[in-house]
Amino acid sequence: MNDAGILCVAGASGLVGSQITKVALEKGYHVHGTMRDADDKSKRPHLMALPGAEERLTLFSADTSDGASFDAPLEGADAVFIACFPPIYHGKDGTPARELDRERGFREVVRPVRDGCLGVLEAANRQGVGNVVLCSSTSSTNPPEPVAVKTEENAVSDPEKQMDDGKFTAAEKIVMERAAEEFCDAHDMRLAIMLPTMMLGPVVLPQHLEGASMEMPARLYRGENASHDRVPAGSMSLSHVEDVAKLFLAAYEAPDARGRYFAVYDSVPWQNIYAEIVRYVPDAQLPAPLEGEPEEPTRFDFTRRDSLGVTMRSVPETIRETFDWLKSEPFS
Ligand SMILES: NC(=O)c1ccc[n+]([C@@H]2O[C@H](COP(=O)([O-])OP(=O)(O)OC[C@H]3O[C@@H](n4cnc5c(N)ncnc54)[C@H](OP(=O)(O)O)[C@@H]3O)[C@@H](O)[C@H]2O)c1
Repeated sequence: MNDAGILCVAGASGLVGSQITKVALEKGYHVHGTMRDADDKSKRPHLMALPGAEERLTLFSADTSDGASFDAPLEGADAVFIACFPPIYHGKDGTPARELDRERGFREVVRPVRDGCLGVLEAANRQGVGNVVLCSSTSSTNPPEPVAVKTEENAVSDPEKQMDDGKFTAAEKIVMERAAEEFCDAHDMRLAIMLPTMMLGPVVLPQHLEGASMEMPARLYRGENASHDRVPAGSMSLSHVEDVAKLFLAAYEAPDARGRYFAVYDSVPWQNIYAEIVRYVPDAQLPAPLEGEPEEPTRFDFTRRDSLGVTMRSVPETIRETFDWLKSEPFS
């Protein structure tokens, strides 16, 4: 148990941030967690119910539109985990991001994330926080020319191409990563960047059941239809959300860990994912069967991920745990 260290989790009420908070508390750290409203009655009690929270979790209000609001939670911290940039899917007036022109897409989707992240990093630098673990996404890992086996070095999206193609929500991630790399290099801060995709498993807040990752199993469990009409031919990269959090902590605790890390267990055809799900919810409203053969899943080289020493749960284990947990009616 590490009883002394303080870790700041920016976005502690989020799917990823709440798991980082949970794992950090389990490991004995003190946690300064941020959310926009630390008194939010629909969120705070769930976080304060985590084991160790009463003694070692302090929640702060901080908004990425005001970097200085992160000074107080960062004071005394040895590291900051940045998980407070959920994807922006719409422009300011509600226009879907993919329909924005290039100038608006940059101004309303890409730039706020880049500048918001720099605001958190500037606060970290002011407070002398030397270790940063940034949550990005595999949407930053799609190079213009496909690669046979993705590594963290060769799987790098081209932000200009993504923005030319109207993929502003994806471009925000690689632009954020590059800005963070430049800032941390210039200020001698150690930066590790984690790249997750879909994350399943027991979550901390009921709101997480509505988010991109857990919505599908939660809907199927409730007897509602899946978002797919037909099983897609493609694949999905997946991991257990607690394993992702363990990777974040491992990246902090390994003094030489820096740079990008895949935070996925593996990529699996949707056909296999639905075949696994139906074992636990046999009456679920599943999509129509795939026509034809599934495509080859994305292939990854996990050498860097595995160097962090976290044993990750397989996709069948993750799906089983997810449905066992849903069946326990955790928030009723
Ligand atoms: N969920 C996924 O399936 C998924 C997949 C791949 C990558 N990721 C990445 O993981 C990261 C975290 O995502 P998530 O799914 O954990 O998001 P989330 O559940 O929506 O949580 C976002 C967190 O950020 C906080 N936040 C939102 N807007 C903020 C603002 N303006 N200022 C300060 N804090 C703000 C939220 O707090 P309040 O709302 O309480 O203020 C919350 O704590 C993102 O970079 C995302 O791209 C997520």
